[in-house]
Amino acid sequence: MRRLLVTSALPYANGPLHFGHILEAVQTDIWVRALRLAGHECVYVCADDTHGTPMMLKAQAEGVPPERLIESVAAEHRATYADFLIGLDFFHSTHSDENRELTERIFRALDAGGYISRRTIRQAYDAEAAMFLPDRYVKGTCPRCGAKDQYGDACEVCGATYTPSDLIDPVSVVSGTRPVERESEHLFFRLAAFEPMLREWTRSGALDDSVANKLDEWFDTGLRDWDISRDAPYFGFGIPGHPGKYFYVWLDAPVGYMAASLALARSRGLAFDDWWGPASTVELHHCIGKDILYFHTLFWPAVLRGAGLRLPTAVHAHGFLTVNGQKMSKSRGTFITGRRYLDRLPAEALRYYFAAKLGPGIDDMDLSLDDFVSRYNADVVGKLVNIASRCAGFIARGGGRLAAELPEPELYDEFAAARSRIASLYEARDTATAIREIAALADRANQYIDARKPWNLAKDPAQGASVGAVCTQGLNLFRVLVTYLQPVRPAMAERAGAFLGRPIRQWDDVAEPLLGTALAPYVPLATRLDPKVVASLIEPEPAVAPAAAAPAAPAVSEPATEISVDEFNRIDLRVARVVAAALVEGADKLLQLTLDVGDEQRTVFAGIRGTYAPEQLVGRHVVVVANLKPRKMRFGLSQGMVLAASSDGPGVFLIAPDAGVSAGMRVK
Ligand code: 2FM
Ligand code: ZN
Repeated sequence: MRRLLVTSALPYANGPLHFGHILEAVQTDIWVRALRLAGHECVYVCADDTHGTPMMLKAQAEGVPPERLIESVAAEHRATYADFLIGLDFFHSTHSDENRELTERIFRALDAGGYISRRTIRQAYDAEAAMFLPDRYVKGTCPRCGAKDQYGDACEVCGATYTPSDLIDPVSVVSGTRPVERESEHLFFRLAAFEPMLREWTRSGALDDSVANKLDEWFDTGLRDWDISRDAPYFGFGIPGHPGKYFYVWLDAPVGYMAASLALARSRGLAFDDWWGPASTVELHHCIGKDILYFHTLFWPAVLRGAGLRLPTAVHAHGFLTVNGQKMSKSRGTFITGRRYLDRLPAEALRYYFAAKLGPGIDDMDLSLDDFVSRYNADVVGKLVNIASRCAGFIARGGGRLAAELPEPELYDEFAAARSRIASLYEARDTATAIREIAALADRANQYIDARKPWNLAKDPAQGASVGAVCTQGLNLFRVLVTYLQPVRPAMAERAGAFLGRPIRQWDDVAEPLLGTALAPYVPLATRLDPKVVASLIEPEPAVAPAAAAPAAPAVSEPATEISVDEFNRIDLRVARVVAAALVEGADKLLQLTLDVGDEQRTVFAGIRGTYAPEQLVGRHVVVVANLKPRKMRFGLSQGMVLAASSDGPGVFLIAPDAGVSAGMRVK
């Protein structure tokens, strides 16, 4: 038995999971599940990547502390991963005690090893926002080709690379003012000290040859020291012994892999050093997108080695995802979030399509929506599930029990013998070939049934035994196929296992056919995808209803379809006290409320003017949705929504909590 610790890249905690994240998580999850079916111990962890300037600015823009932002995003990420059946053992956060502890420990070890140097650098500074500006936060005219509105690191038009000070007419994206240059002392990690080790590690089998070749280019250009510090204000961990300095997000992000395992080890009473200690014999695999190879194949192994820890066994990279041949982009409508998909379609359909297209390399993969529909409907519904649905009824009518023997045991053995090949294809991450071979077996199973025609046999009472035998053969072939698809469609495999009366736990389960056993009633295992619903994934979101102008009085609409507890828990409902209330000039339905929500005051515009005079409200408690995305209204920013009841008739009535509450209490 192999022991493995597997990770997928940590998503940033400043937005929803999109199809790129889902692709990576699905690919990793399929790999992990396949290894588990082979009997290996495989632990899979991930976390939210929570630090950095974008996180800080996004929280500021939303008027919430960054801790609150990352908390609500984490809840959403967890729920989305769970709904896509990503079998994580632990999902953590880089803003955690474990991550602080480990990051500090690693930094101290690097410092003690002489791998940290100090140097004063000049950097763009926004005097109005009082902050240093990362290159992407300065925009201006390209000094080479004159293209306007280019970022401070590179020109998207002519490809020139430069620093923000080279831009013509530079402007800070944060305040809109012209940045100045300022000096500051930074801490650098001496990457070049690890070059011999890295050259060896990259050729040790840890990387695909294509990736290792890419690294050679980086070695040829020379490894430069890596700036691991950032100045305040910054959302991250302060660097011990360096007041006002913070660890750069990319230093503590991969440490998040360790932090997640440490939290898991603590919660299960396991030994963390088993995974991360220098003498670890557990395989460590990182699954990432090709855009972050540099961090994972140079910085991260060097940091680990410098801190006296083990190196990764392998880093597996995948390519980018395009949708209908286009880069995922909000403006083209091809940016699809995981939740948007889940609101419309079953998770396992997408898992199947990704699996059918993914190979082991870093080639990009296209999600063609038409191909998705036709492939899924043909392969899964038309071929695979069809075998079970065609056979199940005849067995049920014949007493609900499988026959005592197979009419064609050699055919079954051939199917079962494919398991080692299928297992190795999964292990080699060649899911596209695995799926092709499974689909070819499904064709053969269907040919078998088509040739024996149980529906004709069933018309002749004397053929009762042959109907049972043919369908027993068919269902056993189906069971083999469902087992082979378990890593891709685990929920379907679970349901099929329940129907067949035998759960699917390992590849070797198919070594022997199921004979003479009772079947549970058949439940449909997959339904056809509707092309219209699939096409709606990239249709523009419906325009915001006019009721949005009056947040407390939404239009009366149909009750929503069911939501899960997780979805409900994502709503931060809190008791708030009305500190002040005022009329809003030019808005005859609105009142402007100043609310004490416990840890801060918020401004909320509520459409309750017809029912309440401002002075009636001051001092009252109300219930507020505290994590609603702030909305810019004509009159100002509304930072939440007050709950109120209304019907078609007049009046909008505030929901009042009972006596005894105080501002800031959570409503559950
Ligand atoms: O590129 C990204 O989305 C990063 N948040 C990935 C971090 S992976 C790991 F290093 F933490
Ligand atoms: Zn240019």
